[in-house]
Amino acid sequence: MSRGSANGKPALVQRDHHHLIHPQHHPSDHQDPQVWVAGKGVTLKNIEGKSYIDGLSSMWNVYLGHGRKELVAAGAGQLKKLAFATAYAGATNEPAIALAQLLKKLVYPNIEAFYFTLGGSDATDTSIRTARFYWDAKGQPKKQKIIARKLSYHGSTVGAASATGVEEFSQGFGPRLPGFLHIESPNPYRFTTKRKDVTPGVAAADLLEELIVREGPDTVAAFIAEPIQGGGGGILIPPEDYFPRIRHICDRYNVLFISDEVITGFGRTGRWFALEHWGVQPDIVQFAKGITSGYFPLGGIGVSKEIKATLDTVESGKRWWHGYTCSAHPVGCAIALANLRIIEREKLVARSARLGARLLKKLKPLEAHAHIGQVRGIGLLVGVELVADKTTQARFPSDVGIGKRVRQELFQRGLYTRVLDDVICLAPPLVISAEDIDRIAAIVIEAVGAAVKAVKASAIKK
Ligand SMILES: Cc1ncc(COP(=O)(O)O)c(C=O)c1O
Repeated sequence: MSRGSANGKPALVQRDHHHLIHPQHHPSDHQDPQVWVAGKGVTLKNIEGKSYIDGLSSMWNVYLGHGRKELVAAGAGQLKKLAFATAYAGATNEPAIALAQLLKKLVYPNIEAFYFTLGGSDATDTSIRTARFYWDAKGQPKKQKIIARKLSYHGSTVGAASATGVEEFSQGFGPRLPGFLHIESPNPYRFTTKRKDVTPGVAAADLLEELIVREGPDTVAAFIAEPIQGGGGGILIPPEDYFPRIRHICDRYNVLFISDEVITGFGRTGRWFALEHWGVQPDIVQFAKGITSGYFPLGGIGVSKEIKATLDTVESGKRWWHGYTCSAHPVGCAIALANLRIIEREKLVARSARLGARLLKKLKPLEAHAHIGQVRGIGLLVGVELVADKTTQARFPSDVGIGKRVRQELFQRGLYTRVLDDVICLAPPLVISAEDIDRIAAIVIEAVGAAVKAVKASAIKK
């Protein structure tokens, strides 16, 4: 494509600047954006014709990689047969029923029934509303508060942003909704406690108990947590005893436990769902992203038998007044079904565990580097945290721009991914080969060295 043509990059970017608002929009991010035009397997191709490894499965979601013909066929087949029909009261459709049935087999055994949304943010809102509704139906209408964690990301709708623990998401948009509270994250690198009587995992979980007791258990509806904090925290894997203790506390005070598995669901961590690592089951599980590998916007929640029974037994006029036009979209459900069947058939959950361990092993030696604080991972979800000073764990000052620099160095070497809070985040498609895992590891090691050298050189010049 000629650069001067109406569809060449400069013209496209100019039109983009005029007419397109991006997620987390700021023009400084879009001076020279990537214009992705094609994808195949684990690689993305830009308008200049260059290919890159898609190190984050695009937005943590393209599990099966790009250009997967079976998913295209599943979507096209359903579009031809029945592109849309409502699932509102009194109607249903075949792909949605089949998807719910398959999910019943794949998610936690106590989870009984599913509601489908369009993505993760509306799944968060649905979970929150459902938890509050449940307690109201049980005759405890004061149980309304939602406890979440700092550094969590649950989405950008008003409700989901109120649950989100990253402060920036509530800046300039007015305050969070009332009734949303946050405890510290069990950050495996930075959480500290003065308590000597228990492990750090228990101490971090006990913060939930303290807050429930302080607020009054009869006012708290639910605790919401990502099993591994992703977008907000930079892949924070909690200690082994954290979630068992959380489950115990939720049971003790009659607080529902919502597991936000928008990033961790469907094999990303080497298990179908991440709380399996610690033998814990939530009352509500929410998902999105990997369920369709990004080939269609779809998310949802699954609820326990007890919650489902409550929805089924309230009076008609006091029903669960919640719904989206595109809920249980037949095309999305057909694609999700095909996607999950491939994950099952190709044993991609075990593959994620295996290749994730390989990536972690290759990257662990980086911890000897003077500016790598921690390398952590679980399945194909790996984080490499950069620090200015290892002894104090101090971050690089923001004007140094280490994250941006590392991202550039990675990109120059053929790897496209995100660096959040100076953590290089890696979550490649589950279909990635061992050779490409090794390539990612080699690129990361080289890029870290080059980026640190570059920022040091520029600091000396100043
Ligand atoms: C854990 C988690 N929950 C919710 C969301 C919001 O999902 P969506 O962007 O599909 O609305 C995200 C998105 O990254 C997420 O990571």
